[in-house]
Amino acid sequence: MQKAISIQNLIKEFPRKNEQPIRAVDDISFDVLPGKIFGLLGPNGAGKSTTIKVLTTLIPPTSGTVLVNGYDVVKQSLDVRKNICVVLQENAVEVFLTVRHNFLTFGKFHGMTTSDIEKKMGRIVELFGLEEVLNQKPIDLSGGLKRRVQVAKIFLVDTPIVFLDEATTGMDTFNKRATVKAIKEEAQHGRTIVLTTHMLEEAEELCDEIVIINHGKIIAKGTTDDVKKLGLQMFYLSLKFSEMEKDLEELMHKFSPVKMDIVNNEVSLTVREHNTALKILSLAQSSGALKHFEISTASLEDVFVELLDRKKRGTP
Ligand SMILES: Nc1ncnc2c1ncn2[C@@H]1O[C@H](COP(=O)(O)OP(=O)(O)O)[C@@H](O)[C@H]1O
Ligand SMILES: [Mg+2]
Repeated sequence: MQKAISIQNLIKEFPRKNEQPIRAVDDISFDVLPGKIFGLLGPNGAGKSTTIKVLTTLIPPTSGTVLVNGYDVVKQSLDVRKNICVVLQENAVEVFLTVRHNFLTFGKFHGMTTSDIEKKMGRIVELFGLEEVLNQKPIDLSGGLKRRVQVAKIFLVDTPIVFLDEATTGMDTFNKRATVKAIKEEAQHGRTIVLTTHMLEEAEELCDEIVIINHGKIIAKGTTDDVKKLGLQMFYLSLKFSEMEKDLEELMHKFSPVKMDIVNNEVSLTVREHNTALKILSLAQSSGALKHFEISTASLEDVFVELLDRKKRGTP
């Protein structure tokens, strides 16, 4: 089967004056099959946007072979552009055009006629709840609505491959639900969606397949289920005591937290399991000196640290 995306040994360096170049992408290879929702994951600075920029012909690779729908991003960049649409992190809406004109401009840019655009606009306007703001300018809209317009645009055109660079990050619930629904529908019809995010939860919710990169290198790849099985879900626990006894600290250590910091009477811990977090909480509670607590899922940064540690240790 023809791959939607094929990346082989991609390296991208940014030159610097009198210094070693910055290697933003450091020899990555992966493929994406048509109709998949593919997530490129990694903490800030990992090289996600750089990879997307190469894939969308905005910047050339330093070396390696990158094909999009079978076309080479260097030798056949025009063909690549005809096969894709992109929502980049920055500047994705024209803030001084009305929402309607944003859609018209975007559609025309992709070679659609006005009547085609008008016809298709109905579905996305309904899906994204944009009826009321069609004649307003994004500059006057809230951040959430602006984002909605930004993402809604891609469902106007039917290029085979769509790139979303952090477009779903930090979306409100309504936005996210509409986007998830639309993305899943499109993928079912054979469209390939490539998105980047630094939020694990988001990727788990949306993606069929995931590649995780850090410092420009792949540290994990597979189906979302495979990656989940790596036990990436971790929990963060913050505990404030009026007074903290020494033996409590030792008891907590026995749970082998991934990370534990104690400052004054405040403890922050990262643990691998939900259950461990609850056990530690119950231990803290029984001390009688617990003033305040918080439990949340750990940051992706913590998860990466754990993954990298495991790589170093050589454990799966
Ligand atoms: N145009 C550029 N010039 C120099 N360095 C860059 C440029 N773009 C990105 N970088 C560097 O490359 C690395 C990866 O950046 P980026 O791809 O934007 O990461 P991400 O999108 O994963 O947050 C970072 O260290 C960043 O500072
Ligand atoms: Mg980025």
